[in-house]
Amino acid sequence: MTSTLLIAPMAGSLVNFVNASFIISGLLFIFALAGLSKFETSKKGNAYGILGMVIAIIATIVALVKLPGYSPVSMVLLFIPMLIGGAFGVWKALKVEMTGMPELIAQLHSFVGLAAVLIGFNAFAEEGTGASTFQLSEIWIGIFIGALTFTGSLVAWGKLSGKVPSKPLTLPGRNWINLGLLVVIIGCGIWFSNVSGGIAWLPLVLLTLASLFLGFHLVAAIGGADMPVVISMLNSYSGWAAAFSGFSLHIPVLIVTGALVGFSGAILSYIMCKAMNRSFVSVILGGFGDAPAVEGDGPDGEITEIKADELASQLSDASSVIIAPGYGMAVAQAQYPVAELAKKLRDKGVDVKFAIHPVAGRLPGHMNVLLAEAHVPYDIVMEMDEINDDFADADIVLVIGANDTVNPAAMDPGTPISGMPVLHVWEGHEVVVFKRSMKPGYAGVENPLFFADNTRMLFGDAKASVDALVAAL
Ligand code: TAP
Repeated sequence: MTSTLLIAPMAGSLVNFVNASFIISGLLFIFALAGLSKFETSKKGNAYGILGMVIAIIATIVALVKLPGYSPVSMVLLFIPMLIGGAFGVWKALKVEMTGMPELIAQLHSFVGLAAVLIGFNAFAEEGTGASTFQLSEIWIGIFIGALTFTGSLVAWGKLSGKVPSKPLTLPGRNWINLGLLVVIIGCGIWFSNVSGGIAWLPLVLLTLASLFLGFHLVAAIGGADMPVVISMLNSYSGWAAAFSGFSLHIPVLIVTGALVGFSGAILSYIMCKAMNRSFVSVILGGFGDAPAVEGDGPDGEITEIKADELASQLSDASSVIIAPGYGMAVAQAQYPVAELAKKLRDKGVDVKFAIHPVAGRLPGHMNVLLAEAHVPYDIVMEMDEINDDFADADIVLVIGANDTVNPAAMDPGTPISGMPVLHVWEGHEVVVFKRSMKPGYAGVENPLFFADNTRMLFGDAKASVDALVAAL
C-alpha cells in the first residue's frame, strides 16, 4: 500500500468526510492548546486533545480502507503496532511519577523523531528520484529534523534521568563542529534533491548520520541548568518533524498538528529563556557563546542546624513567613504537609506566601501543579518577580527542597547557573533549608546560602521534617 495516503483516489463523499474530520481535529487541537494554557481549564483542554486525536485516527483508518490496493491484511498490520504502542503508552502513563514526567516527555520526543526518519526513508523508497524537487526536499528536511530530535531527545532523557552526566560536553572547536555538520547536511540535501538513480541513497544516509551526530552534540553541550529550555526546544523540533512527515504522507491534519506543536514549543522555549536570562539563539546552537564555567573550591565554613520543635516555636512567634519550594518537595511528596503547615500558620494570624521560581522542579509549572493539588489558595502563590522584593521583610523563609533556584552563586560569573535570576531567599531575617544532605542541586553548583549566618539547616526527608513541624506546632 502506498505511503502517500489519501485523498485523490477516493469517492467524493468520502473525501468530504475525511477532510471535514481532519478540519474538526485541527480545531480541537487548537482548543486543546488554549485550554492547556491555564490551570483552571487544563482538564478541558486535555479532553479536546483526546477527542481530536480519536477523530483523526478514525478518519485515517476510514481513508485507508477505501484506498486502491487495500486488503484486510493491511488493517491487521496497522492494528498490531497500534495496540502494542497504545498498551505501552497506557502502562507508562500509569507508572510514571510526576518527577519522572520530563524524562517521559524526552522519550516520547525521541519516538516522534525516529518515526519522522523512518517515514522519510519509506517515502523515498516509494517515490524514488522521480519525485519533484519539492517532494525530495520535504523528505530530506523531515529526516534531518527527525534524526536531530531523536538523538537530542535521547541525550536529554539520559541527562534528566542521571544516566548521562548533566555537565556540558565542551569539545574543542564545538561551534565549528556544529557549523561543519550543518554544511554537510545542507550540501547532502542539495545533492540528494538533484541526483537521479540509486546513488541518491548515499547523500541521504550521509545527511542522516550527520544529523544524528548534530542532535547528540547540540544537547550534550548544554548544561543541566538549561535543560528546561532544551526540553521545550526538542518539543518544538518534534512538532516540525511531525509536520514534515505530514507533507510526505499527504496528511493535512499531521501538518497542522506538527506546526501547532512546533510553534508552541518555540514560544515556550523563548519564555523559558527569558525566565532564565539565557539567549535563545545561544541555547539553540548548543550553548554557542557561553563562557566556560570556572572550576572553584566552592563555598565553605560552618553550618548551623535546627530541629523541628525549635523551628516550630520560632514560627509561632513570626508575623510573616515565605515558603520557597523546589524539586525536593516533589520528590518527597511533601506538598500536602506543606499546605497543612501554611494553613496552621495562617490560622494563627501569620502572613504566609509561597515564592515560585519559573524553573523550580523539573517541569514548567511543576510547583504550581503540586500546590494546587494540595489545595493551597492561588492568591498566596507568588511568581518570582512578584515576591523577590518581599524577602527582606520576611521573618522566616522556609526553603523546602529547592537549591539551584535559591543559589546566590547565580549572581556571580563563572558557574553554569550564572545570570539565571534566583529567589532572593537569603534576604529574609532567618532562612531554614530543608534537605537531606549537603549535596549541590541539579546544576551541580555548590550553594553558599547554606553557610550564611542567618541560615539554619533542617536535615532529613522534606515530608518527614514538615510532618514533624506540623505536629510540633
Ligand atoms: P534542585 O536544584 O534540583 O535541588 C533539589 C534539592 O532537593 C536537592 O538539593 C536535594 O538535596 C533536595 N531533595 C531531593 N530529595 C529530597 C527529599 N526527599 N527531601 C528533602 N530534600 C530533597 O531544585 P530546584 O531549586 O527546584 O531547581 C530546579 C533545577 O532543575 C534547576 O537547575 C533547573 O534548571 C533544572 N530543571 C528544571 C526544569 C523545569 S522546566 N522546571 C526541567 C529540567 C531541569 P539532597 O539530595 O541533599 O536532599
